[in-house]
Amino acid sequence: MARSTKAIIADRARLLGPNVSTFYDDPLHIVRGEGVWLWDAKGRKYLDCYNNVPHVGHCNPRVVEAITRQASMLNTHTRYLHEGILDYVERLTATMAEPLDTVIMTCTGSEANDIALRMAETVTGKRGIIATDATYHGNTSLVSQLSTSNVPSMGFGLDQFFRFVPAPDSYRAPDPDGTAFANVVAQQIAELETEGTGFAALVVCPYFLNEGFPSLSPGWLNVTAEVVRKAGGLMICDEVQSGFGRIGSHFWAHDKMGIVPDVVTLGKPMANGHPVGAVVANGDTIGAFRRGYRYFNTFGGNPVSCAAAMAVLEELEAQDLIANSADVGVHAQSRLQSLAQKYECIGDVRGSGLIFGAEMVLDRGSKEPASAFTDKIINKMRHEGIILSKLGRHKNALKIRPPMPFSKENANLLFDTLDAVLANTPLTS
Ligand SMILES: Cc1ncc(COP(=O)(O)O)c(C=O)c1O
Repeated sequence: MARSTKAIIADRARLLGPNVSTFYDDPLHIVRGEGVWLWDAKGRKYLDCYNNVPHVGHCNPRVVEAITRQASMLNTHTRYLHEGILDYVERLTATMAEPLDTVIMTCTGSEANDIALRMAETVTGKRGIIATDATYHGNTSLVSQLSTSNVPSMGFGLDQFFRFVPAPDSYRAPDPDGTAFANVVAQQIAELETEGTGFAALVVCPYFLNEGFPSLSPGWLNVTAEVVRKAGGLMICDEVQSGFGRIGSHFWAHDKMGIVPDVVTLGKPMANGHPVGAVVANGDTIGAFRRGYRYFNTFGGNPVSCAAAMAVLEELEAQDLIANSADVGVHAQSRLQSLAQKYECIGDVRGSGLIFGAEMVLDRGSKEPASAFTDKIINKMRHEGIILSKLGRHKNALKIRPPMPFSKENANLLFDTLDAVLANTPLTS
């Protein structure tokens, strides 16, 4: 029986438990998607400027066909021989630098990061992990402790192995060549070594997306990577959000940041919504992990997942979507800059390719975050048929991260609507 929207909200709490999260004050009931568009239960159409998982577009025909074809043929685990995973891994690793040639496939980004941290432990014999203080790397017992917003009393005591450094913030604390960041990482490494935990790895999103995607110059992570290597630790790049051409200029954000990581973790956009993640490293690192931990993943790398993931790579190439990301990204930022000339509340405009946004402030001089105002804007945009979100330490940065087929025309609709919403929303009330 079809439930009303009100009944769905009540039944979510009843069946999924209290405090299950939803987006928006007035939650959306989406029933269909196609390309960059979504439709709600009443048939209203929304422009999706937020969802990065349907990377090559909602219900992309190539991906749907690949899943359907493989699901009607065979789906089983990787203890039987199957060429699908081999073809996929060959094509995936061809997009990365040479040492990154071996892969463990998982079902989520969390699993991938969990493995990456355990790899660092098996390679170095140490357990100290460094991350930024405004990040998110997933939901397992181990990696959930990398989110500083977690309740400190929870987590089986695993947080004893973690140290945090301030996330880069190009707007409030510029660090043009990354030296200040490298210095705080070096400080934490020294402390981990002194206290006896030892240093195993630094894990970062190379575009610091959850941290608010600060504007960092190409090669910015270079000096930090040097510090990590010298200390004998692994450099882990979490490309769960930043990868697969999202940033437009490069296939991988670590390339833009000027480094070849020891381990790369993948997820979200990898198979357009089919649950697929991966850890990429060299064969020795993956071998060390498998010697240290007996590892098997029932669903990771199954033939249907690999077919879906392969279709994403094919579609990116066939539709030239990374070039589109670069091109539309430049247009979007110029539209945002024009709005910044009109509205004082836009303190900073930034992004790369199809991840872009603006930081909202109460005052350009003090840069005080306009967090409540940003929330109001997001909710008003939803009522105007535009889906986007907010992020960053103060939750005052508009987060715009649409599917990769997003066009300049789509961007114009987004910014014309944002212009009208900003004109009608007082900064304080
Ligand atoms: C950077 C980053 N890493 C890892 C994860 C976890 O991925 P998953 O939800 O697939 O476990 C997320 C999810 O938001 C993420 O943003």
